[in-house]
Amino acid sequence: MYLSKEEERMLFGEFGYAVQKAMEILVALGKIYDAKKLVPVTSAHISGVSYVNVGEDGLEFLEELASDGRVLVKTTLNPTGMDLDRWSFMGINREFAENQLRVIDVYKRMGIEITCTCTPYLVGNAPNLGDHIAWSESSAVVYANSVIGARTNRESGISALATAITGKTPFYGLHIEENRQPTVEVRVPQPNGEFEFACLGIVVGRLVGDCIPLFRGILHAEPDELKALGAALASVGGVPMFHVEGITPEAEKYTDRTMERLTLTHSDIMSVREEYADEVDPELIFLGCPHLSLTELKRIALSLVKKNVRKRLWLCCSKQVKLEADRLGITQIVEAAGATIVCDTCPVVAPIRDLGISTIATNSAKGAWYSRNLNNLSVRLLSTEECIREATE
Ligand code: F3S
Repeated sequence: MYLSKEEERMLFGEFGYAVQKAMEILVALGKIYDAKKLVPVTSAHISGVSYVNVGEDGLEFLEELASDGRVLVKTTLNPTGMDLDRWSFMGINREFAENQLRVIDVYKRMGIEITCTCTPYLVGNAPNLGDHIAWSESSAVVYANSVIGARTNRESGISALATAITGKTPFYGLHIEENRQPTVEVRVPQPNGEFEFACLGIVVGRLVGDCIPLFRGILHAEPDELKALGAALASVGGVPMFHVEGITPEAEKYTDRTMERLTLTHSDIMSVREEYADEVDPELIFLGCPHLSLTELKRIALSLVKKNVRKRLWLCCSKQVKLEADRLGITQIVEAAGATIVCDTCPVVAPIRDLGISTIATNSAKGAWYSRNLNNLSVRLLSTEECIREATE
């Protein structure tokens, strides 16, 4: 891989320990993927923040990087294992909380914004069409590529951090125009609402693996619906981006091409519900995977007016969205009904089993998939309205 004189000096340690280590990681990655050069990025987003995933070894490595490492571009952070302010209210024990706060502290020292959300594009990390970026967190990656039209591979937390510290990423994969073209056309009836978009994502993600689909037949889609579609697509397969004819910014380049075609009916799409219909009484109902936007939170709050929540109902979002909700009186409505707005985390990355939870209901196809396959929970996948009903009746 070609390195400029300055990049060589970074690799030889002239810019300090962290830059050298970061450059070693990027050069190794570039060699694996046969990248010809590095390109500058405008933003980074880092996953692998929960102490559940980082552990002591990971923390030690991060401490070493933080000895002299500082990020050079706008860099945000994925959810942690707990609400940073209300961890004891969540039932998190002190030992876990202290370890989690050590992880946060080390990222803070490197100049990373402690956003703790999987929706960085909703909290100010919003790149432009065509920007090269380095994001980890599969749902954010697919959103950035597909809906924003920025260019990122599915980075790991470490490679995204290495890019944040150097401002560079290897030029391969989705940074290259021709690798962004769809290879399979998927004809679908118009999905209705975020839940149906999420179900569509699970079904298509399974069928196309890591191919890039071009959807035809979707006449309108809100950003929150595309968020749900992308998160589901990326969770079951390796889909790094999608196009929707007439809607996403790069789709028009490819609508004349001939490619393999799949056609799905509404019942094909909704069949995924049957797979997540465990006969259990959910101990926790959670909405907000990926984290809720203000629009979604507002809609949920309206559906909770004059209702009483009987079970634990978590609405997960970023702290920034919650602050806005506080200002608009949305939080008060939610809390009056007995639900909880949980920030900085979600039940997938929190130590959920330690909180005594083994059964869950959610409207998120991604949340359902990970809750079952990663956290070994019994899961019911319900629409948003059904989740609210389950929590309140
Ligand atoms: Fe976000 Fe947690 Fe879902 S990190 S995408 S809410 S699994």
